[in-house]
Amino acid sequence: MLLVYNAQLRHGIVLAPMSGYTDWPMRILCRRYGAELAYTEMISAEGLVMSTRNTLKLLEHPKEDRPLVAQIFTSSPEFGALAAEMIENQGFDGIDINMGCPVRKVVRKGAGAALMRDPRKALKIVKAVMSKVQLPVSVKIRAGWDAGSINAPEMAEILSSFGISAIIIHPRTRVEMYTAGSRWDLIGEVKRRTSIPVIASGDIRTQEDVKRVKQIGADGIMLGRVAIGRPWIFREILGHGPPGPLEVRDVMLEHLDMLCMTYGERRGMLRMRKYVSMYIKGFPGASMFRKKVNSIDNAAFLRDSIHQFFLGQA
Ligand SMILES: Cc1cc2nc3c(=O)[nH]c(=O)nc-3n(C[C@H](O)[C@H](O)[C@H](O)COP(=O)(O)O)c2cc1C
Repeated sequence: MLLVYNAQLRHGIVLAPMSGYTDWPMRILCRRYGAELAYTEMISAEGLVMSTRNTLKLLEHPKEDRPLVAQIFTSSPEFGALAAEMIENQGFDGIDINMGCPVRKVVRKGAGAALMRDPRKALKIVKAVMSKVQLPVSVKIRAGWDAGSINAPEMAEILSSFGISAIIIHPRTRVEMYTAGSRWDLIGEVKRRTSIPVIASGDIRTQEDVKRVKQIGADGIMLGRVAIGRPWIFREILGHGPPGPLEVRDVMLEHLDMLCMTYGERRGMLRMRKYVSMYIKGFPGASMFRKKVNSIDNAAFLRDSIHQFFLGQA
């Protein structure tokens, strides 16, 4: 049992925040297969305070999409605090502060993984956010900026001494982006330096990986890329078999419907394209179908094509 963000988790396997992917439709599907907690895509604190339409949309979620943590990114304690206030009464179970995003646009402004190089600023943001809300606050960090400045254990110790509720570690450096393997050994070091729950992220794909990372010291396990177009990975990791073709088809159709409901038919269909190629991976004819889907430009035709594709697979 893991108590985090005031939520009781039985196995502690959760869905990672992924910009461009983990909107409520993906979260709902992953929860159905066993994800016990989920995060929004990262949300710009500045965008939230300015109430830009696309940013506000990231907060939307149905009632059953809980427990749910809103993740913000910023380099400003003031904007962080204002954004946290806006999030407080909107049906969330916690706020996570992103200190791991490696994308140039984000780090150039001093946010995301840039905060790994600026622990004082990181701490100011954490304090400002915590001073404004009752919600539990966590921080998601990387290993460090580069191989020569690995400081995740120190960061975890400093931040946790100020009362954050959990630390999430993706043990790669900013410079490594998503290449190189995750440095799982760092998870143990982070755990030894803090007394709060540690959630591990990075290359965890199988039951064996989960076992190993828990042995190293993780309290919770975060699945990211492996869950894109594969929401049943949670069920598989919990010991069940993979879905048959008809179950895959039905999940795809439901996913498309939810995306169309959220973004409208056209944007929903466009957003579905990137999941389709992951859903159909490994099926005969997948590469032809992938090409076809990229030229489809209406949701009804995409629905029909998914039906057709699976007629030959049963
Ligand atoms: C497309 C994509 C978008 C991501 N967006 C976010 C994000 O918004 N916030 C965040 O903290 N991490 C983000 N990440 C990092 C993931 O949460 C996770 O830490 C990383 O992918 C490693 O885990 P994995 O190997 O299970 O994918 C993103 C990763 C990917 C691939």
